Amino acid sequence: MFQTMGDSCASQPLRWTRIASWSEIPDREAIKFTYRQGGIPREGFLYRLEGQVKAFENSCRHIPIPLDYGDGHFFDSTRSRILCQNHGALFDPSTGLCVRGPCEGAFLNQLTVCLEDGWVYLRNLD
Ligand code: FES
Repeated sequence: MFQTMGDSCASQPLRWTRIASWSEIPDREAIKFTYRQGGIPREGFLYRLEGQVKAFENSCRHIPIPLDYGDGHFFDSTRSRILCQNHGALFDPSTGLCVRGPCEGAFLNQLTVCLEDGWVYLRNLD
């Protein structure tokens, strides 16, 4: 989910948290960030894809463990799919749909982000 510019995320700090600079996000490489949901600390990852920012919870839908094995690498060798390093599941980077692996057909938990004034904001979940 992506909220476009003009929706003024920056002016609503109770609803949005600034998590990254657009210029620091590599294309088809992910960066991690932390957030809270219901008071529980969680980890997410985000990346650029075709001019947009995508963000997901760093957790497989099959077993709730991090996709990256802790090393910050989320893409397969072709950079066309998100990879679960634990069991090799592959996910569509535009939707988070698992296209191969133990959780085939399930979606990663997508997080709502907004791009404004060169910053990426995450919609608060607490
Ligand atoms: S933990 Fe689900 S595919 Fe790896």
